[in-house]
Amino acid sequence: MSGLEAVILLVTIFTGGSIVWSTLTLGISPMPSSKKARQAMLNLTHNTGTGPIFELGSGWGNLLVPLAKTYPKRKIVGYELSIMPWLITLILKKMFGLKNLQVYRKNFLHADLTNATVILCYLFPGGMQKIEAKLNAQGGKCEYLISNNFAFISHKPIKTILLNDLFKSPVYLYALKNKI
Ligand SMILES: C[S@@+](CC[C@H](N)C(=O)[O-])C[C@H]1O[C@@H](n2cnc3c(N)ncnc32)[C@H](O)[C@@H]1O
Repeated sequence: MSGLEAVILLVTIFTGGSIVWSTLTLGISPMPSSKKARQAMLNLTHNTGTGPIFELGSGWGNLLVPLAKTYPKRKIVGYELSIMPWLITLILKKMFGLKNLQVYRKNFLHADLTNATVILCYLFPGGMQKIEAKLNAQGGKCEYLISNNFAFISHKPIKTILLNDLFKSPVYLYALKNKI
């Protein structure tokens, strides 16, 4: 085996191993939102003012990077614990020179979300419950939450988009101001 082949093999094993590890510990893989879901989420951010947008569990940056490009004057923040997706997003940030984008390798449940005016996520039911509890506990100025596929339990969305896909997957928009 050549040196290059050994490096490729090691990188592949590390990437695979780290993804399996983060999936097992977080309860969700870094699977990106579909193109249709991404577009729907992006569209829902259009009338949400000019404040910071946070993505909780930003994966490989498939949504975070377009957000930063769409809103060069807004602060865009991503939190991602899985190391390879976080690293790729960091590389994309540098490649595209996205100065308005910050991406942290950090558990969003331990992050200060009080500055977010819009939160986006694509998680799982348990993750939504934890976000709901965190937003209830911390207060802050979050006005909107946009969730791909998974709903809050104790809030009603102000808008639900049903995607034109096999499962008619929902994308939810919640208005949180004075409600959480
Ligand atoms: C299904 S993926 C969604 C990726 C991206 N948001 C998208 O829509 O394409 C969920 C991501 O959330 C991340 N994640 C889950 N819980 C997390 C936590 N507590 N802190 C940081 N990242 C988390 C996972 O590692 C995974 O990459």
